[in-house]
Amino acid sequence: MILNHKDLLGIQTLSRTEIEGILDTAQMMKQVLSATSKKTAHLQGKSVITLFYENSTRTRLSFEMASKFMGASSANISASSSSVNKGESLIDTARTIDQMGTDVLIIRHPQSGAPHLIAPHLKASVINAGDGMNEHPTQALLDLFTMREKKGRLSGLRVAIVGDLMHSRVARSNLWGLIKMGAEVRVAAPATLLPPELDKMGAAVCSSIQDAVRDADVVMGLRIQLERMKQASFPSIAEYARFFAVDQSQLRLARPDAIVMHPGPCNHGVEMPTVVYDSEQSVIQEQVTNGVAIRMAVLYLLTSRRSQLQ
Ligand code: CP
Repeated sequence: MILNHKDLLGIQTLSRTEIEGILDTAQMMKQVLSATSKKTAHLQGKSVITLFYENSTRTRLSFEMASKFMGASSANISASSSSVNKGESLIDTARTIDQMGTDVLIIRHPQSGAPHLIAPHLKASVINAGDGMNEHPTQALLDLFTMREKKGRLSGLRVAIVGDLMHSRVARSNLWGLIKMGAEVRVAAPATLLPPELDKMGAAVCSSIQDAVRDADVVMGLRIQLERMKQASFPSIAEYARFFAVDQSQLRLARPDAIVMHPGPCNHGVEMPTVVYDSEQSVIQEQVTNGVAIRMAVLYLLTSRRSQLQ
């Protein structure tokens, strides 16, 4: 399977066949992760750079681990320690990295559309590792992979997404992907954290968490993104938790075999209590492992396409 794109900028522009191909490739990569030796030669001779303008633990490290497992040369640049701090523009920074023989540039940026801005100007493939409130495609892919792995299918799954939908690029990417794959998506959030476009994207907007979670196969909590709020969007953390936390009483409304997901990092006791985060229904730790497999798959598929075109 070859991706039909130079870059991975979002789920919106991927076809159902491409999503299935990435998930199938990640399935093979996951076998590498469980082997005694995790070294493969899929990216031998390739160079992968991560350029992060926002903090990250999972995304940045999993891309770095994925690159190293597959034999690439990899390096990280943080905006805070680069010439960005001397006023260098995004496009100049990206073009400078491109000129150093970079095959793949992975970027996280607080502005929606930043990866889309630089991609046409670079020879390197660009991967969006999260742009503002727009998309986080590899997070959605690892979420789809985890759901498919646990439930055996995506089509017909009932998925509840609960929390700060307004600021969530994870929710938007998941919505594009889940609807494309034939899942039913229900969303619930405080009115101030509910963007108007979600029903146009295909989600059923529920007035309570109970309506969203009832009979769900998957219950996904979202992080409250205080850093993106100019002013408080709800009266208090305690009230948010009271009405929108994925707690045990909400979970009892879901199917008995429902899985609990969260992209992380999680505010324990706000988005869900620790007892749910660590419960048998939680697949949050497996999401992290699957993130490495998905990023291996995406890096492999993008670099394979480059090699075929050269
Ligand atoms: N889910 C996610 O993007 O986590 P990080 O911010 O730690 O990368």
